[in-house]
Order: sequence, then structure tokens, then C-alpha cells
Amino acid sequence: MAVLKVLVVDDEPGIRSGVTRILSSFRVTYPFMDEDYTFEVTEAATGEEGIEIINSEKPDILLLDNKLPGIQGVEVLEYIRNKNLAITIAMITSYASLEVAVKATRDGATDFIPKPFTPQELKSSIENITKQLYLKKVTHKMKQEGKKIRYQFLSVLSHELKAPLNALEGYLRMMQEKQAGDKIDDYTHHIERSLHRIHGMRNLIMDLLDFTKIRLERKDEKMQKINLAELASGAIMTVQPYAIQMDVSVNLDVKDDPVMTADPEDVNIIFNNLISNAVKYNKFGGNVDIKIECPHDDVIITFSDTGIGISEEDREHLFTEFMRVKNEQTRGITGSGLGLSIVKKVIELYNGRINVESNPGSGSVFTVILPKNPTIKIL
Ligand SMILES: Nc1ncnc2c1ncn2[C@@H]1O[C@H](COP(=O)(O)OP(=O)(O)OP(=O)(O)O)[C@@H](O)[C@H]1O
Ligand SMILES: [Mg+2]
Repeated sequence: MAVLKVLVVDDEPGIRSGVTRILSSFRVTYPFMDEDYTFEVTEAATGEEGIEIINSEKPDILLLDNKLPGIQGVEVLEYIRNKNLAITIAMITSYASLEVAVKATRDGATDFIPKPFTPQELKSSIENITKQLYLKKVTHKMKQEGKKIRYQFLSVLSHELKAPLNALEGYLRMMQEKQAGDKIDDYTHHIERSLHRIHGMRNLIMDLLDFTKIRLERKDEKMQKINLAELASGAIMTVQPYAIQMDVSVNLDVKDDPVMTADPEDVNIIFNNLISNAVKYNKFGGNVDIKIECPHDDVIITFSDTGIGISEEDREHLFTEFMRVKNEQTRGITGSGLGLSIVKKVIELYNGRINVESNPGSGSVFTVILPKNPTIKIL
């Protein structure tokens, strides 16, 4: 339960005690709010007293009469505006003077409660204000979380980019200082390691390009009829050199007519990442089976491998940016941990789904379901 502080500034004692009485037993609750709101009322008989309480108590809501004995309600409004205080204000007006209403709105009042008011009128105005305050709080929280995620992303990214640079610098210094000998052949290992790190860095940059592409561009004009079997074959060809090294055989099984509407680049991202993972995290001599089916309005693509598998705990975070499983079996396999997060974003763009089942030690199955005729989300 959350408590909102209400200050009522009015020179009529009857109004003040009425507000206190009505609101002390009032509770606002909406299905979308995670908690109920109740109210704690403080009273002030003049504008001067009101300002004092505003400074000491920091109320969330101010119910303000305009006609006061000393300074007027609009002057209290001005005070709040000049100090940039976060208070939601409703004016209590004895007569609906348009001029006062216009000025008060300009000065920050969000609501008007005509005097005399019924308990119901007061309650519905307070209910509205509470809803606004709640939405403001939620929006603020979401903005903060967005900032935090962007910050985390950038710090992981800089770390990932810095690590290979440090390694390269180290190897170059060793050569500069001729640490392993005078001949170029003495440095074959250093050169190989350097090329390997450059290769990793290039892959990371390619992933980042994919990443920004799916975030920035959305392209109605690139949507076209594509044949999934053709694109899958292309992706298999790309991964073939690596599959041969690992002695992994990659098989494609196509049922029905595998045609859908999509941007081919997006589908390539899905195939390239899921097929390369299935080969990369496989065992020597293993298999990868890709199956494409098109029942009704969907296409279902499964990628089954006979690889190292993924534990239940790791599966929970699998689609998070930079997530890599670190254990004995993945040691020595390079990657940026961006692939699956990109795949997931692309699939969501098409209102599709991806899920994964896995038996650690014996293999994994990634299943992608996409609508044949997607309504693409324009970002
Ligand atoms: N088929 C799979 N079998 C076992 N583990 C997998 C499989 N696919 C992904 N993983 C695990 O999930 C992690 C995240 O995969 P992801 O494709 O996002 O990144 P990556 O392969 O490490 O790097 P890259 O960005 O180059 O693809 C991998 O590091 C790996 O540990
Ligand atoms: Mg990958």
C-alpha cells in the first residue's frame, strides 16, 4: 500500500475538515496498479502557512483555494512553479471564474474542484490525480531502466572490444622487443594468435552492424516472397568450411512449399546464427538437422544438433546480449554472445517465436515459428 500526502489550503474550516474526513477513509485501486493508494491529509488556513508546510512536508497533492485572507492561491501556484516542485495541484474554486482558471492552468494546476463539492466529486478528482501520479512514476522508472540497460550494454561492449586490442598490442610489443628471437619465423604463433583475435573482433563488429540494422531500419520495401530452402542452403554453404573442420554433417529437410514474405536479410540473420551455433557447439563428428515445415499460416524451422547442450539455468539467459556459457566445453570457442539476442529481436519483429529445448551432453533443438505473411513492426 502506498500513501500520498495531501495538503488542503482553505480558509474555511468546514472545507478543510470535510476533505480530511472524506480522504482519510478513501482508497484508490486500479487493476493495472501494483498497490492501493491511501491518503494522509494536512490542513492549512492561509497561503503563507501552506507554503511552510509545502517546504517541510513535501506533499504529493495540493488542494488549493484561490480566495485566501493573505496571499492568494495563484501566488502559491507561482511559488511552486518557480521552485520547480513536483506537486500535483487541484484548485478549489468557489465560483468558476474563467480568468482564474486560465491563469491557474498556466501556472500548473491540473484540476478544478467547484465549491461546494460533494464527497463523490472530491473523490473522483483525487482518483484522477492518483492515476496520473502512478503513470508518471511508472514512466520515470521505465526511463531509468532503459538508461541502465544501455549503460550495461555499452560497458560490456567496450570491454569486448578492448580485450582483443590489448592482446594484439601485447603480441606486437613482443615482436618489437624481439622477445622470441630475430627471425620472423620465431613469431608464427604470435601472428596466428593475432589473426585469430582480429577474426573475433571482426565478427563482433559484424554482429553489431546486424544489431544496429534491426534497431534502426525497418523496410516495407524490402519485404518480398522468399524461398526458405534457398536461403537455408546458402547459410549451410557459408558454414561448410567450419563444419568440415569439425567433421559435422549439416542436413536440410524441407516439407511443403517453404515460401514466406520477409526481408531476406532478416532470414539470413536467423539461419546464419542458428546454423553456425549448431555447428560451433557440436561434437567432433556430430550432426545438424534443419527441418522446414509450413503448416497453415506459419513456417516452423527446427535446428537440431548433437552438441554439448545447454543447462536449464543457462537457457534462461540465452537470448540476453553478450550472454556466453562459460565451461570446460566452451573454452576455446570464440563468439561475442550477441548472435541469439539479435535472432530473437528479428523474430519478435515478425511477431514470431523462438524456443529451445536441450539435453546437456547430447544436444539442443531451437525451434523458430514465423507467420508466412507477417505484419512487420515498424521501429
Ligand atoms: N546450439 C547450441 N548448443 C550449445 N550451446 C549453444 C548453442 N547455441 C548457443 N549456445 C550457447 O549460447 C551462447 C550464446 O550464443 P550466441 O549465438 O548468442 O553467441 P556466440 O555464439 O557466443 O557468439 P556470436 O555472437 O558470434 O554468435 C553461446 O556462447 C553458447 O554458449
Ligand atoms: Mg552464435
